[in-house]
Amino acid sequence: MIIAIDGPAASGKGTLSKKLAAQYGLPHLDTGLLYRGVAKSVIDNGAGLQDRTAAEKAAKSLNLASFDEISLKSHQVGDAASVVSAYPEVRAALVDLQHRFAAQPKGAVIDGRDIGTVICPNAEVKIFVTASPEARAERRVLELRGRGEAPDAAKILADILARDERDRNRAASPLIQADDAHLLDTTHLSIDAAFQAAIDIVEAVRAGR
Ligand code: DC
Repeated sequence: MIIAIDGPAASGKGTLSKKLAAQYGLPHLDTGLLYRGVAKSVIDNGAGLQDRTAAEKAAKSLNLASFDEISLKSHQVGDAASVVSAYPEVRAALVDLQHRFAAQPKGAVIDGRDIGTVICPNAEVKIFVTASPEARAERRVLELRGRGEAPDAAKILADILARDERDRNRAASPLIQADDAHLLDTTHLSIDAAFQAAIDIVEAVRAGR
């Protein structure tokens, strides 16, 4: 079973995907980490984010194990990932790896922006996770505070809106709900309630409802 989870930044899709993977005993791939790894490599190598050749090279030689996840998860690297992920050559270089992950015998939970539309268009279950920009900004602020950072709430909201704009309006694999994806709006849901709603979607699909 392939479960494809897409949605905007800080929608809660990462947490949901991890919990679904544990629930169904499936491997989980957070594809945002791939683009974050590419962005971090470009930054570490001293190239500018506008340097498409450097970004493509970084994508082709990506070794995720060489990064620690905490530094990839920073707000700054997320914004940089949103820039390099708009380059078609970067996306193309990361397709095989994602297809190989999806081809595992048991299936997989894969989350990102284009999983249900481009990477796994035949996924059995597709969920598009959203929440209002304000709710997402608030969650991101709490998450960053939890990591000891002192975020500026207004700037986080502005960054989330800018990231949405870039992710939705790029030409290559933009963030968009697949026609056959189930919409899950987590604005007013606790993590547990959102998880239950996601399980209900998976079970309904499995039961052919
Ligand atoms: O999900 P995330 O915040 O870790 O993703 C970081 C950026 O990477 C996001 O702003 C856009 C890009 N991304 C993408 O273009 N396609 C994906 N499948 C996953 C992430």
